[in-house]
Amino acid sequence: MTKASSNRSRRPRQSAVGPEHETELLLDWYAQHQRPLPWRQTKDPYAIWVSEVMLQQTQVATVIDYYQRWLERFPTVGSLARATEDDVLHAWQGLGYYSRARRLLEGARYLVREHGSELPRTPSAWLDVPGVGRYTAGAVTSIAFGAKAPVVDGNVMRVLCRLYALPGNPQKAPLAGELWRLAEALLVTGAPGDVNQALMELGATVCQPKAPKCGVCPWRARCRAHANGEPERYPELPERPKPTPLVMACALVSRGERVLLAQQAANAARWASMWLFPTVEVAGEGDALHALAHDLGERYGVPGRVLGKFGVFKHAVTRYRITLHAYAYRARGAQAPRAGARWWSPSELEKLALPAAHRRIANQWLSEAASS
Ligand code: ADE
Repeated sequence: MTKASSNRSRRPRQSAVGPEHETELLLDWYAQHQRPLPWRQTKDPYAIWVSEVMLQQTQVATVIDYYQRWLERFPTVGSLARATEDDVLHAWQGLGYYSRARRLLEGARYLVREHGSELPRTPSAWLDVPGVGRYTAGAVTSIAFGAKAPVVDGNVMRVLCRLYALPGNPQKAPLAGELWRLAEALLVTGAPGDVNQALMELGATVCQPKAPKCGVCPWRARCRAHANGEPERYPELPERPKPTPLVMACALVSRGERVLLAQQAANAARWASMWLFPTVEVAGEGDALHALAHDLGERYGVPGRVLGKFGVFKHAVTRYRITLHAYAYRARGAQAPRAGARWWSPSELEKLALPAAHRRIANQWLSEAASS
């Protein structure tokens, strides 16, 4: 529990109507029920920035380990700015949405260059940092510096739409703008960073999308959606498109101890700059061997002999559901690979940034190689 929030319950109650009382109720609840998360033990704006970017598309439980390892590896904005993109992608490996890692790196370099590593205290200065939007600017400055800047993420959106029973799509005007105003109005009392985090915490742990726990909500007596008896009706989000299935095939080509991986182009739509086993997209598994043989020979200049199927790996990436068929090959001939491909030894392979499915394949290959 933070010092600011632990004092909440001893404060005299303010008026029993309006945002001030609403905020008091929320902060009292947060003081008692917040989860002890590592980024809540610091006021370091750099650490808070890292946590907020990691949390944008990833669950708290997954982020905790990554956050701690990241800060051991890149403890300051300066150390991040000096890192290579390969190091940064390796530290991010498995978190997905890798453009977030590249944006952090770009932002760190900007902050060192333009602010001499002193992180800005105002939301407007943060909005000039590459990759930083209104949410991140508000989260970092309110939590680290007490700036009176609101945040609206998916959790806050849901909580506010229910509290005030707001119809309409919260991602579009006019409701999107209204939500930022309502979130700002709640910053009337208490530490803005606590109010913002309390709103997000309420959304994450009580006012959940399905089966909200209205019985333990500090706002149950004031919540219009609860009073209407249909809290799950809000927010009125458009239905998510079904994931698109995608079939891919990849080749694990070995030559002695080493294995072939190719680096994606820096501007590739998926997995930019990451290392992959040579991979092709196919209409169905029946096309896999033909397409791989063509790619290995023509593109990478490394023809191979198929040894057999290595496995099938399922993988969700943004709105795609990928089924990846992996085949083992032995390289024929001794030509040097082309088109960004290289041979890697087992110990080098461990240090590369691979997309999750390729990392699983690599780990399985490494453990099979070690036991044979
Ligand atoms: N989600 C993203 N950032 C958060 C924070 N600081 N507290 C609670 N939930 C969050």
